[in-house]
Amino acid sequence: MGSATTKKPEKRIDITINGKTVSARKDSFLLSALKENSINIPTLCHHKDLTPNGTCRLCTVEVEVRGKKRFVTACNYPVRDEIKIETHSPAILEHRKLLAEMYLGRWPNVPVIQDIAKTCGVTAPSRFTSEMTDPNPKACILCGHCVRACKEFMMEEILDFAGRGIKRHLTMPFGEMDKHCVGCTSCAYVCPTGAINIVDDFNRPHNPDMIRDHGMKVNAEMATLDKNQCCMREVGTANIVEVMAAYDLLPVHNYKFGTHVDVPKIDSMLLRKKYITQNLPDGCWKGCSMACAKTIDNFELKTGPYKGHKVTVDGPEYETAAAVANMGCFDVEFLAEFNFYADTYGMDTISLGTTIAFVMECFEAGVIGKKHTGGMELKFGASAEVLELMHQMARGEGFGIEVGQGILRLKQKFAKEYGADPAFLKDIGMEVKGLEYSEYLPKESLAQQGGYALAIKGPQHDEAWLIFMDMVNKQLPTFEAKAEALYYFPLWRTWFGLNGLCKLCWNDVVPADNFKENEPAKIPGHVRNYFKFFEGVTGIPIDEQTMLDQSARVYNLQRAMSLMFDKATRKDDVPPYRSMGPVTVEEYESRAERYDKQLKELQNINPAGKNTEEKIQLLRKYREEQYSILMDTVYRRKGWTKNGVPKISRLKELGIDLPEIVKLVEKHQED
Ligand code: SF4
Ligand code: SF4
Ligand code: FES
Repeated sequence: MGSATTKKPEKRIDITINGKTVSARKDSFLLSALKENSINIPTLCHHKDLTPNGTCRLCTVEVEVRGKKRFVTACNYPVRDEIKIETHSPAILEHRKLLAEMYLGRWPNVPVIQDIAKTCGVTAPSRFTSEMTDPNPKACILCGHCVRACKEFMMEEILDFAGRGIKRHLTMPFGEMDKHCVGCTSCAYVCPTGAINIVDDFNRPHNPDMIRDHGMKVNAEMATLDKNQCCMREVGTANIVEVMAAYDLLPVHNYKFGTHVDVPKIDSMLLRKKYITQNLPDGCWKGCSMACAKTIDNFELKTGPYKGHKVTVDGPEYETAAAVANMGCFDVEFLAEFNFYADTYGMDTISLGTTIAFVMECFEAGVIGKKHTGGMELKFGASAEVLELMHQMARGEGFGIEVGQGILRLKQKFAKEYGADPAFLKDIGMEVKGLEYSEYLPKESLAQQGGYALAIKGPQHDEAWLIFMDMVNKQLPTFEAKAEALYYFPLWRTWFGLNGLCKLCWNDVVPADNFKENEPAKIPGHVRNYFKFFEGVTGIPIDEQTMLDQSARVYNLQRAMSLMFDKATRKDDVPPYRSMGPVTVEEYESRAERYDKQLKELQNINPAGKNTEEKIQLLRKYREEQYSILMDTVYRRKGWTKNGVPKISRLKELGIDLPEIVKLVEKHQED
């Protein structure tokens, strides 16, 4: 999902190149101005994805500024006002020719050097051969691409030059293999001569070159596109917090609202400015340059068994920050402490945050009181109480024991023992199939409502994360389009899981030309990448249909087996109404303009003269009907009955109509 970026307006100025006045981007490098105007000059140390370093001098041009002329290297000379440039004067041509001949003398058989020599008019063998002449066609020509790639793509400094003059050579620290090298192959990717050969195939994949080629593509995209799309390398997944708030889909106060005035107190701007200290590749995947995991180092804990200790916090991820918003605790110090203790106690920050947000709403609504919480004032924003609750859970004490059991059991308890209204608890208790909701507010995305509640394992978005596609980009306008997405994406994501692959290289940073694809939402270029990776490892070519069939076998098997736990029929795929629309007057009125408009435009109902409770009911009727139609359409697309159970004919088609499985589904085949 590339995050929204605002481009500064481009400032252009007039410059004179070879006597002709042309327009150029102010402060861009002269080489790009020349390229924009179709003027070609030779380059060697320049690479389009790397910071220029001006070492080869081949791109030298003559620049005149306020009457003074001098030679500069175009690749790193910034374009300013009033410059006149000569790119092919006799002196310049002579200068380049001499350089090219010297390079040819040192590396006579390297194709890229031969090409440059030819371009610069070197026609005879070089006069500069010496004992340093290297006949290897794949010799290192000291361009420095690899050094910069390691630094700029991977934030490492594993490669550098040592020695002076003709003894200059590429090396790793102390001339030894550096253990920090993750084998990302970025250096090999940018090397113009093929001098770098990465040898590390300890698990003996079928075709290491195929894997490298496609891995290098991903690393190059990360290096060049991430900074304008997601900033994963800079701040990790937390980059999305402010985007969620901007689109009103950050869960706040138990999913009542989609944003809050205090979001800047936990957003990624603050994290990157003052907190995140680790910007290194994580090593969870050898060779991955995304470096999505971040840490806060030297964080001093204020509570709990490690109070006063300075620790490293592994995170925060965006869902942890969103869980904190959901509890109304807009305080980055709390976020770090919550994150640390959840990790330390082995608690999932999502289920934890969603459960506590539910408890907070129950407290504010009077469903529970201090006598139930052990004296804690568990209102939204009660960060000290949240931490105390976590410590209680970890110790197995007090109210923490109850909260630790999750929303499904809390709803039963609050209704049975404290006389709470079960219908209200059902509406606001954000769980399906016993699992708490992930941290997106899906009220305005029917497809995401399905993405959560129809998921086999419960409302996590590992199956279908469609909220931006549906609500923001409007790519799923019909029930059929939503159902197709709810068919395809769970299978695609199941396939990741089956193969133990990370999802982030699929859709966080997308190829620059993704918009040209027929189905851009699928990021087809990256799907092809994964298929090539699969083939490179296994030696088995794979296409989209094979992938879908592989996943569908597992997916349908999982659904059938969930019948054993009574968690796999239509009744289990219905979300709490809070995920579909406003439950309370406060919620409706906070977005009254939006909801009133929908009543008018979608339901042809004039909201004037109706009180909020009436409007809530009218809207609810419509939204629940829409969801029901969605369920029918999705089940049809999946080859399931109206009750959401795989048809025996579908199991046969997939070759998984084993007697044990057929036995599970046969009593649910009525349609
Ligand atoms: S493989 Fe990656 S980490 Fe290792 S030296 Fe090359 S660029 Fe650096
Ligand atoms: S190894 Fe390749 S990229 Fe690195 S300096 Fe040598 S030629 Fe350039
Ligand atoms: S390309 Fe400009 S100095 Fe090498």
